Amino acid sequence: MTSYTNCRPGRGTDGVRIAASLLGADHGRLHAAAVAARRAGVDFLHVDVMDGSFVPNLAFGPGVVGALRDVGVPLIAHLMVQAPERHVAAFAAAGAAYVTFHLETTAHPHRLLGEIRRLGARPGLALNPGTPLAAAEELLGELDLLLIMTVNPGFGGQRFLPAMLPKIRAAASKLRACNPQAALEVDGGVGPDTAPAIVEAGATVLAAGSSLFALDDVAAAVDDLRQATDR
Ligand code: DX5
Ligand code: ZN
Repeated sequence: MTSYTNCRPGRGTDGVRIAASLLGADHGRLHAAAVAARRAGVDFLHVDVMDGSFVPNLAFGPGVVGALRDVGVPLIAHLMVQAPERHVAAFAAAGAAYVTFHLETTAHPHRLLGEIRRLGARPGLALNPGTPLAAAEELLGELDLLLIMTVNPGFGGQRFLPAMLPKIRAAASKLRACNPQAALEVDGGVGPDTAPAIVEAGATVLAAGSSLFALDDVAAAVDDLRQATDR
């Protein structure tokens, strides 16, 4: 087995957790949508941050994280921005529990993971569909969350890429060996139809946007997702 010098052995977490991705909610009623998601029993709120450069779209900043802090559900800030080192302090100060950036966006991801931890947040690392897991191998002991993108980031409502399942499986196996307490989040096209295979591959956190918010009944949608993943 590969030996990791920077690994953090320990016990993993049980069960699958749900992160409600607010990009899929009504942007005119974000706070109400977050409260509805809390009442539906989600485990995290997932806030997408987009700069119009790394991804073609624009979305939420630290002000939105700060405005959702009082909802009382831990927030995962998913930064899809170039040079995230310019912004992590603002998201940590706004109250994000996890600050996640993309490996493709910065020259010194190892340093940035440590910086996020020093700022008092949990560091997370995201990988685009085209980025191999091997590129993150030396970082696995430094993070609290690994996010595998299962669509190309930038937009909600895209189709899940089944070709990412082997990457999820490999990531789960490497985290079990090196950092079992780290969350393995999957983001993009997650719904009751795709979740069983994603969970079977080893994901521990499901980020879901349109499947939770599209029908305006987030409680029913969370139930559907939980039923699909109960094993
Ligand atoms: C896409 C975002 C996702 C998005 C997922 O770039 O990172 O969090 O909200 O949306 P769905 O669940 O609709 O694929
Ligand atoms: Zn996201």
